[in-house]
Amino acid sequence: MSTEILTGENALQVDQAGLDSYLNHVLKRRSIRKLTAGPVSDETIRAIAEAGRWSASSGNSQPARIVILKERNTDFWNFVEQTLSTKLQGEQLERAIARLAGYRSGVFTIVVYEDTTISHNPPAGFNPELWKNFAAQALGIFQANLWNAISAAGLGASNQHINFQIEEELRSFLHVPETWQSYCILPVGFPAETPAEGSRHPHEKVVFYENGPAE
Ligand SMILES: Cc1cc2nc3c(=O)[nH]c(=O)nc-3n(C[C@H](O)[C@H](O)[C@H](O)COP(=O)(O)O)c2cc1C
Repeated sequence: MSTEILTGENALQVDQAGLDSYLNHVLKRRSIRKLTAGPVSDETIRAIAEAGRWSASSGNSQPARIVILKERNTDFWNFVEQTLSTKLQGEQLERAIARLAGYRSGVFTIVVYEDTTISHNPPAGFNPELWKNFAAQALGIFQANLWNAISAAGLGASNQHINFQIEEELRSFLHVPETWQSYCILPVGFPAETPAEGSRHPHEKVVFYENGPAE
């Protein structure tokens, strides 16, 4: 895969249309927790995965791994339900199961992992805690790139963390090595709900030009 990067005088022009289009996808990306099925090609899914694979990482160490379930999507969510049923009870279980319905009815699911053979092995002389922090940042960027690509494709997703309740069972269901630690689960499909209007802190609370807010 290659994209042209302009250099020299040809580069001295902001691609405003490209920026507007990108921002539109970022603004469109919302947590969509109720999904519906529809036609999504393997090529589309691969392109979404490529948006993750090409993410930046510290020293290009690339600590993220993903497992994508399409053929096994329904089986996967049935497995999650069965496993949760052995761990939760009563109302907690009912609420968890009710939420799963919206994920199961989507098209595919991405499970995001950290490969600790990378994140727990800093280069010589590198502070190990800082290296782990950098890996976490890289995983965040990877997830953001996946989620924005999903939005650009007109699909919806959310960022779920049921994985932490079922780590070992998930490991064997997905056949992943013990050295991988789960991060999150992204159920993906066509949106079957309109999210509430988005809200964020005002620009002035978050973004400071030239100087921060301290006296
Ligand atoms: C690190 C992280 C963890 C999150 N965990 C969950 C989660 O476990 N379940 C969930 O439904 N949403 C989860 N979310 C989604 C947030 O609640 C959501 O992004 C936020 O409220 C803003 O809403 P929006 O995504 O619609 O813009 C998580 C988001 C992030 C970045």
